[in-house]
Amino acid sequence: MAEPDPRFGVLFEPVAIGPVTARNRFFQVPHCNGMGHLHPTAHAHMRGVKAEGGWAVVCTEEVEFHHSSELAPYVEGRIWDDADIPAHARLVDKVHEHDALAGVELVYSGHIAANLYSREPPMGPAHMPVAGHEPVQARRMASAISPTCAGGTGRPWPARFGPGTTSSTCTPPTGSR
Ligand SMILES: Cc1cc2nc3c(=O)[nH]c(=O)nc-3n(C[C@H](O)[C@H](O)[C@H](O)COP(=O)(O)O)c2cc1C
Repeated sequence: MAEPDPRFGVLFEPVAIGPVTARNRFFQVPHCNGMGHLHPTAHAHMRGVKAEGGWAVVCTEEVEFHHSSELAPYVEGRIWDDADIPAHARLVDKVHEHDALAGVELVYSGHIAANLYSREPPMGPAHMPVAGHEPVQARRMASAISPTCAGGTGRPWPARFGPGTTSSTCTPPTGSR
């Protein structure tokens, strides 16, 4: 087999990300896939295959962290309360099996979300209609997301996923993705 081109050597070097170290620079950015909270086992295996294939960091898709911002009927990840943790733990275990790090993209979609499942009035940066076709009005958010949104625990989010887990992005409550 031909020797790898030395120009690409840097891609295979470990890189520290805060308290954890990725074994190389291949970072699977968040992408939706339709499995999410609906098919957690399929989802866990799909991310595990990516880790097996060599990605050092494997992320979820966007994961809703409060029912006041949900994208039904689209299937994303959910971590509304502790009942959602086992599904995420399954994914993290599959990723860790292959010595990769698991990342979670926490998202609060603001006025992007019509909340067709929870039926909560959405909260966004301004009192305005949601961005889709639904006839739904978003409330203006008065202050930053409170710790009660973290399932009432007030714990920082990465801590809920355990060691070896990174938080790839935490979308602020501005309605942007
Ligand atoms: C089907 C699909 C789903 C995606 N879902 C997400 C997502 O959940 N969160 C996110 O931040 N980006 C999402 N993206 C954007 C990707 O993470 C990525 O930024 C985009 O595909 C561009 O990547 P590239 O520059 O490597 O081509 C999605 C993209 C695709 C094609």
